Amino acid sequence: MALRKVLLEGDSSLRKKSREVTDFDQRTQELIDDMFDTMRAEDGIGLAAPQVGVLKRIFVMDAVEDNEATAFINPVLLDEKGEQTGAEGCLSLPGLYGIVSRPEEIRVRAQDITGKEFERTYSGLEARCVCHEIDHLYGILYRDRATGGLHKLDAEEDEDGSREDSGKKEPAAKRVDANA
Ligand code: NI
Repeated sequence: MALRKVLLEGDSSLRKKSREVTDFDQRTQELIDDMFDTMRAEDGIGLAAPQVGVLKRIFVMDAVEDNEATAFINPVLLDEKGEQTGAEGCLSLPGLYGIVSRPEEIRVRAQDITGKEFERTYSGLEARCVCHEIDHLYGILYRDRATGGLHKLDAEEDEDGSREDSGKKEPAAKRVDANA
């Protein structure tokens, strides 16, 4: 197990476009293994290679619903349906969240570590995560898509700025399902 350093917003690598992967080799496998380890150590549900400073079209997503943890190499969005609006966070922007609209359902094609193509359909949180990670591969951060700017996770205020009632609502941190 090897953990990699997650780059934070402000690092220029996060704003660069990642390159297509052509080598399906041991080095790529090690990168993917490290990305899974790093994602889990950081308590994220997804992580894209540029977040660890590698400008390759790779992201990983943990098992968040019924689907198994998966690595996506050279992912492409094939289709999207509907819309969901909700809180989103990013390991490269710790302590923050924002409200982002994403498709409710997506279909993605990618390659596995052997180079074999596969297609999957995801909805809800997983669809949100896939879109967030593919954005990373184009140098896009969710800040660019957030409506009303970003908010601090520890702020005990509602979105309209009013204070919460005593413990009736979940803390803001609980509202962010997609740290990715
Ligand atoms: Ni992210």
